Amino acid sequence: MVTEIMTRESLIPDGPKNSNVNSSKNTGAKVECVDNLDFMAKFPPSHFKLIVTSPPYNLGKEYESRTSLDDYLKQQEKVIAECIRVLHPQGSLCWQVGNYVWNGEIIPLDTVLYPIFRQQKLKLRNRIAWHFGHELHCSRRLS
Ligand SMILES: C[S@@+](CC[C@H](N)C(=O)[O-])C[C@H]1O[C@@H](n2cnc3c(N)ncnc32)[C@H](O)[C@@H]1O
Repeated sequence: MVTEIMTRESLIPDGPKNSNVNSSKNTGAKVECVDNLDFMAKFPPSHFKLIVTSPPYNLGKEYESRTSLDDYLKQQEKVIAECIRVLHPQGSLCWQVGNYVWNGEIIPLDTVLYPIFRQQKLKLRNRIAWHFGHELHCSRRLS
């Protein structure tokens, strides 16, 4: 699965300029490769009308260090709080997650993240379940 996250240049007129930013004159999009908390820290409150993210699922992939579920949720709580700080009061936050798997048990991350969103006063407006047209060939459960 490939997901692209793009920020429209028109939504960040005062956005930071540095060597990690790639701009395309054709699409008006910018891609910046930095830590998400560092990225958001540069923006004033209520700046974005739309935030779309597909954060790590704590599976131990090459771009993350697997931790306990509690530590993962504490880290995500910080990211969620910062997203809310930079989100416009009428803005939307789209959060894509999958399953965290531990010791053969599946924990759907949206179910454990939902209380954090709720506690931070966000309203759930839509829940989209992705349907894949191909099989994942799991060895220990249905795929
Ligand atoms: C679950 S993957 C999402 C992948 C993406 N949706 C795709 O299909 O290519 C999580 C992504 O978050 C990035 N990432 C991990 N930690 C990050 C951080 N602290 N700040 C920004 N991005 C991070 C990883 O490099 C990885 O591309």
